[in-house]
Amino acid sequence: MNVAVRYLSRSGNTKVLADKIAEVAGVQAVSIEAADAAITEPVDVLFVGGALYAYGIDKKLEDYLKSLNKENVKKAVVFSTSWISKHSIDLMKKALKEAGIPVEEEAFHAKNRPSDDKLKEAENFAKKFI
Ligand SMILES: Cc1cc2nc3c(=O)[nH]c(=O)nc-3n(C[C@H](O)[C@H](O)[C@H](O)COP(=O)(O)O)c2cc1C
Repeated sequence: MNVAVRYLSRSGNTKVLADKIAEVAGVQAVSIEAADAAITEPVDVLFVGGALYAYGIDKKLEDYLKSLNKENVKKAVVFSTSWISKHSIDLMKKALKEAGIPVEEEAFHAKNRPSDDKLKEAENFAKKFI
């Protein structure tokens, strides 16, 4: 199974989740701002994460999600961190759906920087889709 992990993280909280999910999947988590962020080979599962900023997602993440090639992504699974609201999850799902990419209903959320317990939960969450 081909798995990829992409994220956008301004202060590192979402990156912590991305790195844990990538570790479970045996791949590297790649920031969408990195040179190799594009999904150029077909993947079965794309884990994609971002955070909520002033009740929105970063425009770069939104544009990245909308620009994904649906031929290369069989399914997307969303994860997010935020202080309280899980609206980022809805916004990411919406952008992915606009790109024509099937999105897993279940998503993973952690409050700000994930604790060790939360990372264990993230590990179990990721394993369901790998
Ligand atoms: C400018 C700014 C705006 C934010 N707005 C919200 C918000 O509207 N709702 C919320 O629940 N959290 C909000 N947060 C909290 C972040 O979503 C949270 O700290 C998140 O874990 C940051 O992830 P990152 O380190 O991956 O960028 C905001 C944080 C910042 C810095």
